[in-house]
Amino acid sequence: MLESALKGIVMPKISVKTREGEESTVEADAGLSVMEVIRDNGFDELLAMCGGCCSCATCHVYVDDSFVDRLPKMSEDENDLLDSSSHRKSQSRLSCQIPFTEALDGLKVEIAPED
Ligand code: FES
Repeated sequence: MLESALKGIVMPKISVKTREGEESTVEADAGLSVMEVIRDNGFDELLAMCGGCCSCATCHVYVDDSFVDRLPKMSEDENDLLDSSSHRKSQSRLSCQIPFTEALDGLKVEIAPED
């Protein structure tokens, strides 16, 4: 009973690694994009210049291998934009294109180097 009561107030979390290698865990609101969660928690190095309309690639992150397959499929636009990055890897995603849901609780991302 206590467990179910706590479930309602315990927020899902995302672990964010900065370019300097510092890792922190932040609470995340389901319904926001992963980019919005990162930005709203004060990680200024994630510029997210276009505000999430998939046109800048400054929200580039590397998603931990264990989550890559659990994310929504990449759109052609996202794929094209990531191609413009010289730091693209197999775990690359644009964080504005990942809606955060409770199913992604514990998600680990690393902010990609700036292009
Ligand atoms: S914020 Fe611009 S592409 Fe994600």
